Order: sequence, then C-alpha cells, then structure tokens
Amino acid sequence: MCAFQINPYDKALHGAARKTFLSNVPALDSYFREQLSQDLKSRVTTCLVATDPQGMIIGFYTLAASGVSLADLPDEATRKLPRYPLVPVIRMGRLAIDHRFQGQGYGGILLADAMARAIHSGVGAFAMVVDAKDQAAGAFYKHHGFIPFLNEPLTFYFPLANVPS
Ligand SMILES: CC(C)(COP(=O)(O)OP(=O)(O)OC[C@H]1O[C@@H](n2cnc3c(N)ncnc32)[C@H](O)[C@@H]1OP(=O)(O)O)[C@@H](O)C(=O)NCCC(=O)NCCS
Repeated sequence: MCAFQINPYDKALHGAARKTFLSNVPALDSYFREQLSQDLKSRVTTCLVATDPQGMIIGFYTLAASGVSLADLPDEATRKLPRYPLVPVIRMGRLAIDHRFQGQGYGGILLADAMARAIHSGVGAFAMVVDAKDQAAGAFYKHHGFIPFLNEPLTFYFPLANVPS
C-alpha cells in the first residue's frame, strides 16, 4: 500500500485524473466521469476521493443523508429506535476502487473513512446504509460486519453506535 490522501472531490485536484479512473464497473466509472459534478452542484451527494502521491485516483465514495423505514430492518436494529416512519441514516451510494489498486486494502480504508465522517458529520444518523450492486459486492460489505435489510438482500446497514471511537 502506498501513502495516500482522502479529500473531498475537487475539480482542480481530481478533474484530470478522473478521466483515467477505471474500476471496471461501467456504471460506477461513467457516474464518476459524467454525473458526479452535477450531483455535487445540486448537493444531493458529497464525494470523497483517495489519491496516491502522483495524484492518481485510488478510489472514491459518495455520501448522502437518507432515511429508512423501520419495517425494512430486523428487530435487533429497531428495538431501541423511536417509532418514526423513517429513521435517519447516511447512505454510501457508491464505492469504487481503481482496478490497479484493488485487493490492497483501500476498499476497507474508504469504508472506515466513510463511517468516521458519518459519525463526525454533526447530523444524526443511526446507521450507514449501502446498496451493493451484486452478490460479490454484498460479500465485501458482509465481510465488514454489515447486516442485510429484511427483504432487500443487497441493501445493508451498519449501526454507527458500533463503530469504535
Ligand atoms: C469491492 C471493492 C470496493 C473492494 O475494495 P478492495 O480495495 O478491492 O478490497 P480490500 O483490499 O480493501 O479488501 C478488504 C477486505 O475485504 C475482503 N474482500 C474484498 N472483496 C471482497 C468480496 N467481494 N467478498 C468478501 N470479502 C471481500 C478482503 O479479503 C479483505 O479482507 P481482510 O481485511 O480480512 O484481509 C473493490 O474491489 C471495487 O471497487 N470493486 C468494483 C466496484 C464495486 O464492486 N463496488 C462495490 C460497491 S457497489
């Protein structure tokens, strides 16, 4: 693993390197290149980007405020929660590591970074929620302790109260 930095997406810093980013998942790569700037302008998401010392993009993830229905969560999650129709969560909409950096620990690092930012965001949220694009991505989140929703096997949550401080 090389030295790396994680910063909010900044066109001046990441705009050029973004063009060569390749996770080999076309939906994630085209989102990063073509849709992200608009979503940042509209403030529907934030995006954090990891770069190596040469400025090459290692990976990125997006975060947004969201809400989930108590009915979608297992009892173990809802027991201590208020009976609101929706409970607040932070959603990690996308996570992708460039194929040249996969399998070197960066996915786990970006996940931990996202949890830390969610906890220190100043906004209440009981969990981090992720949507896995397929079973292999789901296995990655399960490996990190994420729990599936009741009837949505590819949507997972991790209670932020369980993140070691
Ligand atoms: C899935 C992805 C984010 C994982 O990142 P990565 O940097 O390759 O994975 P890491 O090297 O950080 O792996 C960390 C740990 O997760 C495990 N892991 C990685 N991928 C896994 C998988 N698919 N299933 C189960 N465990 C997995 C590793 O074995 C490692 O375990 P360890 O800490 O016990 O040694 C990355 O491969 C990727 O971007 N893939 C393409 C896009 C994608 O699938 N995004 C998922 C969001 S939908």
